[in-house]
Amino acid sequence: MSAHEKFGFKSLEEIREKTQALGLNIRYDENLSVLGTPYRIGHLQAANRFAVLPMEGCDSNTDGSPSKLVTDRYEKLARGGYGLIWFEANAIVPEGRANELQMMLTASNVSKFRSLVQNVDSISMKENGFKPVKILQLTHSGRYSRPEGHLARPLVPQHDPYLDRGNEVIVSDEYLDSLVQRYVISALLAKEAGFDGVDIKACHRYLMSELLASHTREGRYGGSYENRSRMLLTVIREVRKATGDDFIVASRFNVFDAHPYPYGFGCDHDDMWKFDPQEPVRLVKDMVKAGVGLLSNSGGNPYYIYPQVTRPFDKSSYGIPTPEEHPLESIQRLFYLTSVVQEAAGDVPVVGNGYSWLRNFLPYAASANINDGRCRFVGLGRESFAYPDAPADVLKKGAMDPGKCCITCSLCTQIMRDHGTTGCVIRNNKVYMPIYKKFNAEAVEREHRT
Ligand SMILES: Cc1cc2nc3c(=O)[nH]c(=O)nc-3n(C[C@H](O)[C@H](O)[C@H](O)COP(=O)(O)O)c2cc1C
Ligand code: SF4
Repeated sequence: MSAHEKFGFKSLEEIREKTQALGLNIRYDENLSVLGTPYRIGHLQAANRFAVLPMEGCDSNTDGSPSKLVTDRYEKLARGGYGLIWFEANAIVPEGRANELQMMLTASNVSKFRSLVQNVDSISMKENGFKPVKILQLTHSGRYSRPEGHLARPLVPQHDPYLDRGNEVIVSDEYLDSLVQRYVISALLAKEAGFDGVDIKACHRYLMSELLASHTREGRYGGSYENRSRMLLTVIREVRKATGDDFIVASRFNVFDAHPYPYGFGCDHDDMWKFDPQEPVRLVKDMVKAGVGLLSNSGGNPYYIYPQVTRPFDKSSYGIPTPEEHPLESIQRLFYLTSVVQEAAGDVPVVGNGYSWLRNFLPYAASANINDGRCRFVGLGRESFAYPDAPADVLKKGAMDPGKCCITCSLCTQIMRDHGTTGCVIRNNKVYMPIYKKFNAEAVEREHRT
């Protein structure tokens, strides 16, 4: 591993040289034409290879419906020219909300979601001449549930000495059984609202992700691989059955937790930093058999002390140590995990991630990965917050503007950690700098009080 370094590259040549000096397998193609080519997802065709990764703003109305901030965010993304918009985390049950303003689609607010979807379609049609493929992420926050106020209400599949804080409640098998129908109900509502598909979220150590790693749990959902994957595969099958062939069932899942055995998934039992592909590859094949039509890999636990596994950065949130690896090494890991998933998934397209740290050089790495068959789509997380129209600039002008890029400062994450509504503090400074300051001051005060 090499020393951590902040981004300072002025040319593609400089970043190429650094990549070579570190001995990394990341390629950059200067011909970007592949990014503008269409690709099939299930029964639909995405107009190009850019995808928005799900990025939660923690800014819905209290009933879970889209607020003005949500509508504004998706309007910008619709203008931005993405072939695929993967809408953010949407809770399937109130107790599984990560915060009291997390999206939550219900029978009572489905019409507001329909307006959001129609608005996205009509703006993208007008600006770009196509409708994006629209996927809604369905989630239960499990260990990271905080449905009301500032109090965590962790619902966990197993105890974990690295993550437990003392107030965890172990969920019963019967509770997990009951959630299957809740996923189905949310998926049917998503279809009614006009989404093209749903994502059964199993990443970032929320409930479904932690279940995959529940080696110490007893009963039908813990221990063996068959038991640990039962919930995810059952939900995929049931949603597939209920929603029909004209609806995409996707999954964004953690391929590699970077967490010690017996609490992590995809990790070597003796070395948590070593990826063991055996179970992740088997899971991909099982998900494809169960009816998944779109995948996105992620890894790590953004709430723990190694968030670079999920999102390589220049500057960490408060209290997070500087990583003991170069951001390009973290990026290489994410690209490699994507390629493993794409190979196992065969014809099912995979959305890659880990691009934002590369700033305006990301289209070159994205083109190389697609040309090399390592993924079918390039997913933008923080970059989509900072620079929502990056795809339009690449596809229409041939390049991204370095002055509009995400600088991976982690301030949007800091707002989330401080329980605020989030967005890009740097590029949408007028709106989000005051929000950042307010919630950070309140969080510091809360900490002092306890
Ligand atoms: C503020 C914020 C909100 C996020 N919300 C979600 C989410 O709702 N669902 C999800 O799967 N990932 C979420 N992520 C993770 C991103 O989708 C993405 O995996 C990560 O930021 C790495 O991609 P990037 O390097 O392009 O940012 C979030 C990340 C951030 C910083
Ligand atoms: S606040 Fe903006 S610039 Fe900083 S990491 Fe978030 S999206 Fe990027």
